[in-house]
Amino acid sequence: MKVVVTGGSGFIGSHVCEHFASLGNAVVAYDNLSRASLLQKKEGKNSQSNWEFLKTLRHVKTVRGSTLDYSKLKSVMDDADAIVHTAAQTAVTTSLTDPRTDFNTNLLGTFNVLEAARNAESNPCVVFCSTNKVYGESVNEVEITEKKRRYAYADPKFKGIPETFSIDRSKHTPYGCSKLGADLYVQDYAHTYGLRTAVFRMSCIYGPRQFGVEDQGWVAWFVIANLTGTPVTIYGDGKQVRDVLFVKDLVRAYEAFINSDIRCGVYNMGGGAKNTTSILELMSLIESWSMRKFKTSYGNWRAGDQKVYISDITKASEELNWSPKVGVEKGVKELYEWVRKNADLFKSQ
Ligand SMILES: NC(=O)c1ccc[n+]([C@@H]2O[C@H](COP(=O)([O-])OP(=O)(O)OC[C@H]3O[C@@H](n4cnc5c(N)ncnc54)[C@H](O)[C@@H]3O)[C@@H](O)[C@H]2O)c1
Repeated sequence: MKVVVTGGSGFIGSHVCEHFASLGNAVVAYDNLSRASLLQKKEGKNSQSNWEFLKTLRHVKTVRGSTLDYSKLKSVMDDADAIVHTAAQTAVTTSLTDPRTDFNTNLLGTFNVLEAARNAESNPCVVFCSTNKVYGESVNEVEITEKKRRYAYADPKFKGIPETFSIDRSKHTPYGCSKLGADLYVQDYAHTYGLRTAVFRMSCIYGPRQFGVEDQGWVAWFVIANLTGTPVTIYGDGKQVRDVLFVKDLVRAYEAFINSDIRCGVYNMGGGAKNTTSILELMSLIESWSMRKFKTSYGNWRAGDQKVYISDITKASEELNWSPKVGVEKGVKELYEWVRKNADLFKSQ
């Protein structure tokens, strides 16, 4: 099988490449390295290491290019069997200050991927990395209760946000809109053109090779900050809860879809109710390993921040015969060890 991974140099993309290459598939990692340059500029970090890592893998070919360059994209996708589209502008904050770049990358970039797939002779399936942000702020209307170190859903039987949750009558951000538009296009290319497509609406994915920053990738951001002695700001009270999913579990779900005969899948994707953590709980866990206290300050709640978000993963579990295997403590420890062993990557250059 030939698998093309847009955003291959990114956190999730690099794991998709590694996994499919390890099974002997021919993998093309397609990335414009915009994230690496952004991190280099903003944080002075050497984040080209994922690209360098990919170059060491058998069966992986790296191609530098943008999803906005249709002819180049089409040339790498022409004989693909599966496309995993991870490339995106990923930060809500950036989408607020630069909505045009967000729109172009997330909506036009995805449209180009779909057109390249539709016009490819090999009739590839397309897996799209969508987000829980497509539901917007109305997820905050679910009743919650406050506990000592975390918030929780008031109804203990509520399993989390299902795919049937409304995307309408909800406030979104430009990021939420561009991803939602792309999400609908991906579904529609299955209905209108008969492509096999899947949308994964992901909550918090974490793991090694994640260059988390304050704006995006919070689990990695807290691990990196603790190990490098960088101050962190908690916006709100730190009791916010998310379901978190280890990246290798996510890649197994993608693989399950690719190997299935499902024509069009839409899945909420996260660790589910069994794999949740609050910020305060995660910080305690990290401190217990490093024996180093966080340098913490508190700021106001950020607009639209959710007190609790947990994905209902029943549909993915049933249709894809999938469930998360890696629990929070084990997965975060793996991320923690990666950051510890790669301390040089997190020094300012
Ligand atoms: N990490 C999460 O928790 C999470 C949660 C929800 C959704 N997502 C989605 O998953 C996907 C991957 O996220 P990630 O955390 O791996 O992000 P990432 O920033 O690590 O990876 C994205 C990659 O896409 C590349 N890229 C950006 N614009 C491009 C373009 N025009 N052409 C080619 N490459 C381009 C970047 O250089 C980067 O390497 C994104 O679509 C994101 O919206 C991630």
